Amino acid sequence: MVEMTPEQLRLLRDVLQQACGFVLRDDLKFVAERRLAPRLEALGLRDFGTYQRYLRFDPRRKEELELALDLLLPRETYFFREPTQLTTFVDEVVPRLVQDAVGRTLHVWSAGCSSGEEPYTLSMLMGDHPLLQGWDLDLLGTDLSQKALLAARHAEYGPSALRATSDAQRARFFEPAEHGRVRVTRAVRERVRFGWLNLIDAEGARLLPMMDVIFCRNVLIYFDTETRRRVVQLFSERLREGGYLLLGHSENLFSLSTRFELVQLSGDLVYRKPRTT
Ligand SMILES: C[S@@+](CC[C@H](N)C(=O)[O-])C[C@H]1O[C@@H](n2cnc3c(N)ncnc32)[C@H](O)[C@@H]1O
Repeated sequence: MVEMTPEQLRLLRDVLQQACGFVLRDDLKFVAERRLAPRLEALGLRDFGTYQRYLRFDPRRKEELELALDLLLPRETYFFREPTQLTTFVDEVVPRLVQDAVGRTLHVWSAGCSSGEEPYTLSMLMGDHPLLQGWDLDLLGTDLSQKALLAARHAEYGPSALRATSDAQRARFFEPAEHGRVRVTRAVRERVRFGWLNLIDAEGARLLPMMDVIFCRNVLIYFDTETRRRVVQLFSERLREGGYLLLGHSENLFSLSTRFELVQLSGDLVYRKPRTT
């Protein structure tokens, strides 16, 4: 297998970081060598020096960058991930949103939704929520990976995506599909729409509606500090006053932003955009 020199790793990291904020850490060198080897072969390139130049200068660089990111970005996700936070959302955040709401519509954004398990989980929980019956739920899932979005729209999953799903949830929200897989029911699917969005593209995100809640879990950890700051700034622009930001459990806003207040609920800590009036 072709090896990557430290300099080639640094140059490749720069290209990827500029494209989407993802930091290709030194310890991922072997993973990158293995996953990108078929791309070098397909393009007839002899080493990673020529590959990173291809990603910068070739007329087909955009397509290749998309392929490289698909091979390198972690997309790990599953239904009902981080259940304590989800319980807090259902029992404590939703009642506050209902109380604060002006109309009967809620906009919820799953930023970095991967193959859709997170926004579909929110659709399942919110669709069954007693306080939200008769409400208009607008759930948006966005991601950088077209491959992930294709899988999300297809909504068919294997056992690993359901490893935290109970039998009752499985019976309620999924129907059998081919080859032992399951498909999310139509009612759950219909509340969710998906779109391509690079979180470091603030302009693209300005087309989104103002959100009541943003879930961005297990995404910021892969970014450098400056990118995290920019993305969190974007969230603060897209969130209405009094709206909530829910991060993954290993993520926080410490030294990233002062635009959010930390709210201690009985089950968990969440961030909220303060009201100015
Ligand atoms: C580990 S998954 C997290 C999925 C889900 N939020 C969860 O917690 O289960 C991270 C996702 O973030 C996406 N991602 C990484 N960088 C991104 C960027 N700059 N813009 C949009 N999505 C990005 C990846 O494609 C991947 O699908």
